[in-house]
Amino acid sequence: MVCFRLSPVPGSGLVLLCLVLGAVSSYALELNVTDSEKATCLYAKWQMNFTIRYETTSKTYKTVTISNFSTATYNGSICGDGQNNPKIAVQFGSGFSWTVNFTKEASSTYSIDGISFSYNISDNTTFPDAKDKGILTVHDAVGFRIPLNNIFRCNSLSTLEKNGVVQSYWDVHVQAFVQNGTVSTKEFLCEKDKTITTVVPITPTTAPPPTTTPTPKEKPEVGSYSVNNSNGTCLLATMGLQLNFTHDKVVSVININPNTTDFTGSCQPQTALLRLNCSNIKYLDFVFAVKNENRFYLKEVNVSMYLVNGSVFSIANNNLSYWDAPLGSSYMCNKEQTVSVSGAFQINTFDLRVQPFNVMEGKYSTAQECSLDDDTILIPIIVGAGLSGLIIVIVIAYVIGRRKSYAGYQTL
Ligand SMILES: *[C@@H]1O[C@H](CO)[C@@H](O)[C@H](O)[C@H]1NC(C)=O
Ligand SMILES: *[C@@H]1O[C@H](CO)[C@@H](O)[C@H](O)[C@H]1NC(C)=O
Ligand SMILES: *[C@@H]1O[C@H](CO)[C@@H](O)[C@H](O)[C@H]1NC(C)=O
Ligand SMILES: *[C@@H]1O[C@H](CO)[C@@H](O)[C@H](O)[C@H]1NC(C)=O
Ligand SMILES: *[C@@H]1O[C@H](CO)[C@@H](O)[C@H](O)[C@H]1NC(C)=O
Ligand SMILES: *[C@@H]1O[C@H](CO)[C@@H](O)[C@H](O)[C@H]1NC(C)=O
Ligand SMILES: *[C@@H]1O[C@H](CO)[C@@H](O)[C@H](O)[C@H]1NC(C)=O
Ligand SMILES: *[C@@H]1O[C@H](CO)[C@@H](O)[C@H](O)[C@H]1NC(C)=O
Ligand SMILES: *[C@@H]1O[C@H](CO)[C@@H](O)[C@H](O)[C@H]1NC(C)=O
Ligand SMILES: *[C@@H]1O[C@H](CO)[C@@H](O)[C@H](O)[C@H]1NC(C)=O
Ligand SMILES: *[C@@H]1O[C@H](CO)[C@@H](O)[C@H](O)[C@H]1NC(C)=O
Ligand SMILES: *[C@@H]1O[C@H](CO)[C@@H](O)[C@H](O)[C@H]1NC(C)=O
Repeated sequence: MVCFRLSPVPGSGLVLLCLVLGAVSSYALELNVTDSEKATCLYAKWQMNFTIRYETTSKTYKTVTISNFSTATYNGSICGDGQNNPKIAVQFGSGFSWTVNFTKEASSTYSIDGISFSYNISDNTTFPDAKDKGILTVHDAVGFRIPLNNIFRCNSLSTLEKNGVVQSYWDVHVQAFVQNGTVSTKEFLCEKDKTITTVVPITPTTAPPPTTTPTPKEKPEVGSYSVNNSNGTCLLATMGLQLNFTHDKVVSVININPNTTDFTGSCQPQTALLRLNCSNIKYLDFVFAVKNENRFYLKEVNVSMYLVNGSVFSIANNNLSYWDAPLGSSYMCNKEQTVSVSGAFQINTFDLRVQPFNVMEGKYSTAQECSLDDDTILIPIIVGAGLSGLIIVIVIAYVIGRRKSYAGYQTL
């Protein structure tokens, strides 16, 4: 069991995994390519294994597994310059080579262009009785895009399968085009990590339960949602949503990605429903109601989420009172606000605007802003309070003054 000293890459659950899975052979590969000024320009740390199925001279098939990288060398790994693109090149075992190349796209993203894996099937100790001879290569075009100055992280298992070769990768951290020699702390997560690591930590059950909350999340992206009825759009909502839930004493925070979220709903005279759903959320319902025939508010939130271990997390509360505004207007709150659905589930909202009733021509009506946004209202209050205080002081001074002078005349 080899565990390399862990580099200062955040979000690595590897320390725990190494300790707990001590019996399982697993090599973390790590590469730090520096430029002529000794500044890091390409950084990667990852784990992988390969299984290769090949045909033998007796027309049967054999499978070999490559998971020992103790002899790995990194010759040919380059940062890239004007002519060449960055590349990770690794050689191991008896004639294996593995390369990943990167390209810069536009000014704000780079991409993992492709992954090539070559093996020497002529090597009859690794591939006994192989029918083929020579070097075989599988190339996978990946085309995965990452924002510049972000480190790509994928702790989850990813596999590539082609021509009898299965490539497995996990605990991947990689950044090309590293700026100023400093590996970024901004992580760009693969889709699987977004759901898995945030829903259930991948610590084995024997590990001590995590006591800390997960790393603070970035602000969620703002999504625009709407519901139509026969008269056109009847409900509008624009908001960034972050769900914070506690399950088995583990706090998880997930951001809703509007790009992968579907929405439906319904509008009735007294209630309106907006339902969101995506791969790991079966439904997230916002139910609005009318009160006193002149105001609306968020009355109910129901949620049901799939957890990675296969169980379902569900919470409902139909006795809420949030986002209160007059009918015929919209409710707006740009600052972060929290809808506390239960002790174990809360929704943090960002750049919120909703109008569940009386939507005209698909557009928001005038907004009633939340008190959090209303910095401006405080100023007149303070100024007003100051002014009235001054007036009171003047009046009191005047009255006392008059009393004094009056009393003065009396004594005369
Ligand atoms: C990479 O190598 C450089 C130069 O040796 C060092 O300063 C830097 O800390 C290393 N980075 C990582 C992430 O190991
Ligand atoms: C390769 O790694 C994956 C992920 O850890 C593991 O599930 C799989 O069993 C490994 N394959 C072999 C042949 O060791
Ligand atoms: C990995 O390969 C090296 C060199 O071939 C060998 O010494 C070592 O015992 C191997 N490790 C495992 C776990 O097979
Ligand atoms: C690869 O690098 C190792 C040390 O990192 C060196 O000993 C070896 O000669 C290099 N091989 C080639 C083909 O450049
Ligand atoms: C990456 O490598 C593949 C094959 O090795 C090649 O076809 C592709 O053009 C390379 N991409 C870049 C950007 O160098
Ligand atoms: C492939 O393996 C054969 C047999 O071990 C060896 O003769 C040959 O040089 C190897 N080819 C390369 C490119 O390493
Ligand atoms: C491997 O091939 C060499 C000749 O290329 C042969 O002498 C040797 O017996 C073979 N080994 C096995 C295990 O088949
Ligand atoms: C790199 O350094 C330049 C100049 O010192 C600075 O403008 C830039 O913001 C830095 N980039 C990062 C990602 O730190
Ligand atoms: C559609 O608009 C008409 C006229 O404003 C109204 O009478 C009717 O109830 C509306 N239908 C729905 C489903 O809201
Ligand atoms: C709702 O209706 C508007 C126009 O009335 C239309 O542009 C929009 O695509 C519709 N949305 C959905 C989800 O059907
Ligand atoms: C998530 O909820 C927990 C417990 O209610 C709280 O301590 C934590 O600050 C919340 N985190 C976020 C990002 O809202
Ligand atoms: C959603 O899509 C937009 C436009 O295609 C893109 O800019 C944004 O990065 C995507 N957001 C996420 C979280 O994938």
